[in-house]
Amino acid sequence: MNRKYRKTIIAGNWKMNMTNSGIKPFMEELKANMPKAKQCDVVLCTPAVMIQTMVKAGKDCKVAAGGQDVSIYDKGAYTGEVSATMLEDIGAKYCIVGHSERRQYHGETDMMVNAKAKKLLEKGINPIICVGESLEQRENDLTMEYVAYQVKAALSGIDATALRHCVIAYEPIWAIGTGKTATSEQAQEVCEEIRAVIRKIYGARPARAVSILYGGSMNAKNAYELLAQPDIDGGLIGGASLKPADFATIVAATAQD
Ligand code: 13P
Repeated sequence: MNRKYRKTIIAGNWKMNMTNSGIKPFMEELKANMPKAKQCDVVLCTPAVMIQTMVKAGKDCKVAAGGQDVSIYDKGAYTGEVSATMLEDIGAKYCIVGHSERRQYHGETDMMVNAKAKKLLEKGINPIICVGESLEQRENDLTMEYVAYQVKAALSGIDATALRHCVIAYEPIWAIGTGKTATSEQAQEVCEEIRAVIRKIYGARPARAVSILYGGSMNAKNAYELLAQPDIDGGLIGGASLKPADFATIVAATAQD
C-alpha cells in the first residue's frame, strides 16, 4: 500500500451468494468486528437485486455498495441486463467488470470490459477492472504479457481524468476460490508491472495514483502480508467477504505503515 499517493480499498465480491434478508445480520456482525477508525474504503459488491439494501445497510458503518456487472448498453431490449444508469440510480459507487468468471462463463471479451468500464465512468461509478492469467499462461511464462494486454485493452480510450476513478484488480485465475494464494512476491511483481503499463500510457503521476488490488483466496490470515506490498493497494475478496469477522480482519489489516 502507499496511502500517500492512492486510496486503499477493501472490496468484497459476494458473487451469487447471500439474500436480501441476510444483509442486516451480516452488517450487524461486520460492524461489531470492524475497527473504529478505518484506514481504507470498504465496498461490498452484491448481486444486483441486493445493491439497494446494501446501500441502506452500509450507511451506518460507511460501507459502499457495488455491483458485479453492468450492461454495455444504455437501455432497451436487453432482457436480464442492468444498466449503469440503474446502478447509479440506486446508489452503487463501484462495479466489478471483467471478472474471470464472467469472461469464462459469459463470453465477456476485452472489448466488452472496456465498454462496460466506460459506461460506468459516464455515470460516476468506479469500475473495478479485473485482470489475471490462467495457470497455463503462468506456467508458460506468459503472465506479464497477457496481463499487460488486458490492462491496455480495458483502458483503451479512457483519459487520465477518468483513470482516477478506475481501480484495477489483479486476480490470477488459478488463485480464485482454490485456497491457493499467490505469494506476496508473485502478487507484488504483477501489480508493479500493471502500474508500469499504466505509467507508459498515462505518465508517472496518474500511474502513481491508481489503486491496484489483489484478489484470489485473500483471507484473514494472509491479508496483512499481501497488503504490506508497495503496489498492492487493497483486496478484492470472494469467499472471505461472506464471513463478517474475517472480512473485518482484512479491513483491519490495512492499518499498517
Ligand atoms: P476468492 O477470494 O473466493 O478466491 O475469490 C476471489 C475473487 O474472485 C474476487 O473477485
